[in-house]
Amino acid sequence: MIGVDVNPEVVSTVNAGRSHVREEAGLDERVAETVAAGRLRATTDTGAAVKASQVVVVIVPLHVDEQARVDFHNLDAATSSVAKGLQPETLVIFETTLPVGTTRGRLLPALEKGSGLKGGRDLFLAFSPERVYSGRIFQDLARYPKIVGGVDDASTERAVAFYRSVLESEVRPVANAETAEFTKLAETSYRDVNIALANELALYARRRGVDATQAFAAANTQPFSNLHRPSMGVGGHCIPIYPQFVIADSAPEEVPMLRLGRKTNDGMVKVAVDQLDEALGGLKGKTVLVLGLSYRENVKELAFSVALRLIPALQRAGARIIAHDPLFEPSELDSLGVELVPDLSQPPKVDAVVIQAFHREYEDLDWSKFSGLRVIFDGRGKLHPDELNGINARYLSIAALDRGASGAVTREKVSETR
Ligand SMILES: NC(=O)c1ccc[n+]([C@@H]2O[C@H](COP(=O)([O-])OP(=O)(O)OC[C@H]3O[C@@H](n4cnc5c(N)ncnc54)[C@H](O)[C@@H]3O)[C@@H](O)[C@H]2O)c1
Repeated sequence: MIGVDVNPEVVSTVNAGRSHVREEAGLDERVAETVAAGRLRATTDTGAAVKASQVVVVIVPLHVDEQARVDFHNLDAATSSVAKGLQPETLVIFETTLPVGTTRGRLLPALEKGSGLKGGRDLFLAFSPERVYSGRIFQDLARYPKIVGGVDDASTERAVAFYRSVLESEVRPVANAETAEFTKLAETSYRDVNIALANELALYARRRGVDATQAFAAANTQPFSNLHRPSMGVGGHCIPIYPQFVIADSAPEEVPMLRLGRKTNDGMVKVAVDQLDEALGGLKGKTVLVLGLSYRENVKELAFSVALRLIPALQRAGARIIAHDPLFEPSELDSLGVELVPDLSQPPKVDAVVIQAFHREYEDLDWSKFSGLRVIFDGRGKLHPDELNGINARYLSIAALDRGASGAVTREKVSETR
């Protein structure tokens, strides 16, 4: 196996038998073993690595802006470097999530042009979405079916045979590359719209004095109901982004639900800020501690984190923001322009705490150490308010009823959301 990256530091780390990715249980050990056994080496020379390979898997990121406008620069660069090394009969598989039609319409012509090979004759090309969840990649690789669709039947067959030879999971062929591309966009759109539905219903329930968390748990005892956990919004480079690949490719009257889902989920930051503002009697001059800056718990990744919209919104309302995230070095958070708390053993005096990403480290927080704390806003709905008994602060969340400091609301399990 040859790993290719344009970043020389990534290459030298792998060649030294270490993983450059943290927070992935078991990865360091596997990289060490595989490199030591001579079964993995890394290089920055894409052309040479491709020349020496019968199968090439490409998973470079697409850069997208907040409106999900796609910048194909990385992918085009990688594709043209791959093309230069391609030998006849090579199988190329793209795993980067792509708008429908990209594999056939953009990547196939680029590979043909750069290599002189021809799809359907001596070049095989397929798409297979990466569906794993950061932090438990090995588990997910072993249990989620690998979806594979080629630009022609021979490509599908070869890609299926390749994955069957390396994965324990089911490998499921679909009709073509477009179906495989759409599979990933459909599953992420499902998540986004269902989180939006949970948020919408939670707000409806809250206004009527009904505990949505309890109602959702009860509703989910019916097997057709899978209501998700309401939250302050959806972050990361998957769920909020991929529905927009579909929206961007749609006529104005198509996919209204996807458009509304995005609007609803992005609107939850305002709901949180308004609840805090009301509970504190105005945010002006108040100190708010944001816990967890990653887009979700236990993953070091800032991309499209709700924190990036929440912090400026609170600042615009006049609050002083301090923040904590054990996964980042302070220098990695410079761009946020907030004061950082190095550790929570001696918490600073704050008016409110917002749980933005519920990292493991927060599970056993001693809330009684927060002097002056008046409000806990649980942006992920993860705390059990009954565990806060005796803490002189109001518990708020998107779903919870505001019942003051000792909130008698009982939390039951609802589907996890990112
Ligand atoms: N991380 C996940 O959990 C996840 C889940 C589902 C799907 N994906 C898909 O995987 C893609 C990549 O995600 P990631 O988390 O690995 O991204 P990443 O940013 O962590 O890593 C991408 C790597 O690609 C390298 N790179 C960029 N341009 C290159 C080029 N031209 N040639 C060779 N290497 C190049 C970068 O240096 C970087 O090391 C995403 O865009 C997404 O489509 C990721």
